[in-house]
Amino acid sequence: MLILGLNMFHADASAAIVEDGKILFAVAEERLNRRKHYGGFPSLAIKACLDAAGAKITDVQHVAVGQDSDAHLAKKVQYALANPAKILNFIKMRQRKEAMRDVRTLIAKALDVDVGTLKFHEHHLEHHIAHIASAYYCSPWEKAAGFSYDGSGDFVSTMTARCEGNEIQVLDRVFLPHSLGSFYTMICEFIGYKKYGDEGKVMGLAPYGKDTYVEQVKKILALKNGNFQMNLSYFQPLGSNQGMQVLPDGTVQLARHFSEKMEELFGSPREPHTEITQRDMDLAYAMQHCFEEVLFHLLNELHQRVHDENLAMAGGCALNSVANGKLFTRTPFRRTWIQPAAGDEGLAIGAALHTYHSVLKQPRRRQMDHAYLGPEFPDARIESELKSADVKYTKLERGPLLEKTAEAMANGDVVGWFQGRMEWGPRALGNRSIVAHPGLPNMKDVLNARIKHREWFRPFAPAILAEAQHEYFEHDYPSPYMLHVYKIRPEKRKSLCAVNHVDDTGRLQTVTREENPLYYDLIKAFEKKTGLPVILNTSFNENEPIVCTPKEAIDCFQRTKMDVLAIGPFVARKIV
Ligand SMILES: [Fe+2]
Repeated sequence: MLILGLNMFHADASAAIVEDGKILFAVAEERLNRRKHYGGFPSLAIKACLDAAGAKITDVQHVAVGQDSDAHLAKKVQYALANPAKILNFIKMRQRKEAMRDVRTLIAKALDVDVGTLKFHEHHLEHHIAHIASAYYCSPWEKAAGFSYDGSGDFVSTMTARCEGNEIQVLDRVFLPHSLGSFYTMICEFIGYKKYGDEGKVMGLAPYGKDTYVEQVKKILALKNGNFQMNLSYFQPLGSNQGMQVLPDGTVQLARHFSEKMEELFGSPREPHTEITQRDMDLAYAMQHCFEEVLFHLLNELHQRVHDENLAMAGGCALNSVANGKLFTRTPFRRTWIQPAAGDEGLAIGAALHTYHSVLKQPRRRQMDHAYLGPEFPDARIESELKSADVKYTKLERGPLLEKTAEAMANGDVVGWFQGRMEWGPRALGNRSIVAHPGLPNMKDVLNARIKHREWFRPFAPAILAEAQHEYFEHDYPSPYMLHVYKIRPEKRKSLCAVNHVDDTGRLQTVTREENPLYYDLIKAFEKKTGLPVILNTSFNENEPIVCTPKEAIDCFQRTKMDVLAIGPFVARKIV
């Protein structure tokens, strides 16, 4: 039985295909159409899913969408009426939603087939149930607490649930305008980070700040009766677009979130690309601090209701790896399964699996042992792309390939590492990665100057052999999808200086041979040369979505000052 899951007309549009409960393939549209966070219809992703499954759309029995625009309609109407300026916008949004509800027509158009031939059943699932489903059904557990939080989805920002067997029982919802995601976005915007998805950047700025504004920010976001509430006078009314708009061309645009009251309290907002002051850092600190306090409070409350040590979590805010890393000491939860595509692309998997398990009552099975669910390319295609781009290369067997790449890293080279299937979710996890020596003092500057051009305050991440984690980090709960930040042990900080953040932490990826044998062996080969079971891993891209195809990788290699490209069995070195 084939089920196609979709996230459409929402940020990070995506598609996933599930056969008899097994995820065959999943990809975000942005990787294929090269438009970051693309929020239109995932036509290319649907085609890629069908190609990977060797199926036609007429073979698909169910299509599941991780969005239900009818959910909580009364709440939406009530909110629109309380904000008259937004009513026209609300009506427009409803009209657009009606048009996009016709999934059948949209798919037929995308695939150029006759709509009459499409026989699939159609399912629409509330946004946050789809998020929780994307974590719980992928976990190995038969029971867990479920938690989802983000800016908003179907007028809800936070959901708690009891997950057991095939069922996800919703316990509680926090409705808009109260939203931890919007709170975070509002302060990010105030300190000059106004684009969708900038929140992850500002998380890296927080440790540079001091607690100057914590008490003031607590007035913006407060705990209340086991839940949280925002002081709305600091926010613009979110309106019916819920603070975010997808333009007709699929671009995702954030509305201004903060009100004049923020300026009265903290002075002028920072303009992008101007100097970051101590005020901005202190605000970032207070934002992260208050966010964590509310999160741990909510999770402790959830644990009171679901007495389980397993936490299945998703939603864009679940990418807050700093909070995730503290979760084991601040809550009774002992195990987390966080969907690597915790943002909205993950809804495609959640909707498909929910249909399979909860709607169709099919048995559970272990879903995700790794995140390598995207496209892959045969060696012949890679070789022909190298030839077309006039790149000189050597073809190597597995052993020499690892040896040569490890040697280059040990010598301080920056290596583009393109292997196997592309990762699902926003993190490069060793198949579309740029890898380098984590212990060279200038490596962060080299990477930024030559390729990444990232803000000075953003750290690079370490990838570590799973069995060495406890030697290098103060927590030993694994983080295979780079979703936890832990303290680096004091005696190891110098040897990991290029991945040691200002607060002596690292957002690690723990690598096992089972999950990714080639990547594991690359780190092992690096360890043999340097004694370090750790490499620096950052995404293979330059201000663009992570590279997907060999051509994009080769273009990035040629355009930037990357030293070496290891792509499939081929190794190329830039001639300077
Ligand atoms: Fe979401």
